[in-house]
Amino acid sequence: MTEPTARPDGYPGSPPARPAGPGASAGPTLGGLEVVEASVAFAGHRVVDRVSLAIRPGTILGLVGESGSGKTTLARAIVGSVALAGGSIRLDGSDLGRRRSSAERRAVQLVQQDPFASLNPLLTVGQVLDDLLREERLTSATEPGGRRPRLARQQRAADLLALVGLPSDALGRYPREFSGGQRQLIAIARALAVQPRVLVADEPTSSLDVSVQRTVLDVIAGLGRGMHLATLLISHDLSVVHAVCDEVAVMRDGVLLELAPAGRFFRHPGHPYSRALLEAVPRLPGR
Ligand SMILES: Nc1ncnc2c1ncn2[C@@H]1O[C@H](COP(=O)(O)OP(=O)(O)OP(=O)(O)O)[C@@H](O)[C@H]1O
Ligand SMILES: [Mg+2]
Repeated sequence: MTEPTARPDGYPGSPPARPAGPGASAGPTLGGLEVVEASVAFAGHRVVDRVSLAIRPGTILGLVGESGSGKTTLARAIVGSVALAGGSIRLDGSDLGRRRSSAERRAVQLVQQDPFASLNPLLTVGQVLDDLLREERLTSATEPGGRRPRLARQQRAADLLALVGLPSDALGRYPREFSGGQRQLIAIARALAVQPRVLVADEPTSSLDVSVQRTVLDVIAGLGRGMHLATLLISHDLSVVHAVCDEVAVMRDGVLLELAPAGRFFRHPGHPYSRALLEAVPRLPGR
């Protein structure tokens, strides 16, 4: 099942299967995110059609497909911003129903393509993070006694920025004072502030200058693995998927055509459409 790594970045081709945890049944309860026969329809037309996939904690699934194939719609279904017409989205074996609790909403975070649109221009980075940390009461609930929550929140905000590689003086600055790449890093820090289990990144580097794309991708991949998140990385750029993903899913016209470990996908794509996608890429390292 698992291909040995041949990729230059040192990431494994696909992690070994984890043994089932206590209480695991013979069913497909794996931990992490499961999308089971999920469908989404707009005006009676299915733009996501019975898609099933699973992403285990600490792994990254790359979702590719041409424009209009339903990638963003599937992402929106996973984060709960669009209703399913059928099927289910499960987190650690529990159904994330149509009306999600605030804990369930926190658990599944979205990083969008455009960091300009996703950050409030009127708030400093510190205010953005502090509002989240205060609202969710994460810090006061998890901080050992004796520290004032406000100071603890400030420390946590600085820690989050450090995680994504930004200096703590960024806390006092406004989104407009940052480059696109830095803004995307702030959006990632914001997503991580609420301690999610699932990170959905929808074309997170495609609006960025080439020089910072790799940095942002490495932050998403490194933190996704390090924090044991189930990460869905949507991209139409196969070189991005090749660089960091453990598995690859291909969609066309709302349908999942192929789902395979990355090593196998890039060496022996199973579906003719996957082969056509790969042939359209000039060259990928190690192929
Ligand atoms: N809110 C909506 N109402 C009606 N149709 C929609 C809506 N959102 C998306 N669609 C349609 O659903 C289909 C899938 O769109 P989606 O944005 O999911 O594709 P995508 O794979 O993310 O494309 P891209 O690569 O261009 O981002 C398209 O035909 C789109 O026009
Ligand atoms: Mg899209």
